[in-house]
Amino acid sequence: MESSDRVIRPANYPPTVPGKGYGTINLDGATVGVVNVMGRTFMPTVDDPFRCIDPIVEDLRLLTNIIIVDVHAEATSEKVALGRFLDGRVSFVYGTHTHVQTADEQIFPGGTGYLTDVGMTGPTNGVIGMETEGVLARFATGLSERLSVEKHGTKQFCAVVVSIDVDTGRAIEVKRIFQRGIP
Ligand SMILES: [Fe+2]
Repeated sequence: MESSDRVIRPANYPPTVPGKGYGTINLDGATVGVVNVMGRTFMPTVDDPFRCIDPIVEDLRLLTNIIIVDVHAEATSEKVALGRFLDGRVSFVYGTHTHVQTADEQIFPGGTGYLTDVGMTGPTNGVIGMETEGVLARFATGLSERLSVEKHGTKQFCAVVVSIDVDTGRAIEVKRIFQRGIP
């Protein structure tokens, strides 16, 4: 976690946690800043993602205009709010965690591309990737069943592709990908 330049963890974890919350990668000669923050609504308690990300964005903007922010969060409102908060300062904000893709891809007025949740690549059957039976038992009884990954049926592929103006860092196009029925 400390030595890898390819792995980051949420930037708003306690500072004692190994690893780092942001970094840069080089893509075809362009420097791309990548940040991850975690939401707080229905999630483990972590530091304020809004306050935490401000100095990070400032730091990265000294190196590049191209900045991608992954918001790992449950609540759609929290993700939209972070997107609006960062509009004009980063290239793209997208959400993860819910496993269900949203259809609200857009470019905010300041030029930041946005998608509330990218969705899940994995089994379409079951409950967000896990076998239905165990999940239902958990909800019905309140007792924690060990959940297993759904093994039957077709799979799905969820992703998002964003085009970014390399000079300005503004998003040009946000394209959602959702392929179903994969054997
Ligand atoms: Fe998650």
